Amino acid sequence: MTKPVRPGDEVYAAKCTSCHDLGMSGAPTLKNKAAWTARIAQDRELIYRHAIKGYGSMPTRGTCSTCSDEEIKAAVDYMISRVQ
Ligand code: HEC
Repeated sequence: MTKPVRPGDEVYAAKCTSCHDLGMSGAPTLKNKAAWTARIAQDRELIYRHAIKGYGSMPTRGTCSTCSDEEIKAAVDYMISRVQ
């Protein structure tokens, strides 16, 4: 049986908030729209790749080693929908 895919909000709440809510490691928070405008303008596949492979101070899979690619993508979609 395949593992069920966790929804993006759940993955985000469990793994991404320390940096993307609180701004640890200089991460862009969801309340900092200016920090996201240029990122969101990128191709969505590139954003996914950055989140899955890591880049700069963004760790591989945002430290969620048990997350599947689908789960990371869902978390990214959730984050982008919540940027304000
Ligand atoms: C240890 C801190 C940390 C954690 C945990 C973390 N991030 Fe990040 N994230 C960063 C930093 C720092 C950047 C900015 C990197 C840069 O621009 O050099 C970033 C950037 C991003 C970006 C922007 C990518 C782009 O193309 O500009 C996305 C999307 C992202 N993170 C998703 C996630 C997701 C999803 C999770 C949870 C699964 C997560 N992050 C967890 C630190 C973190």
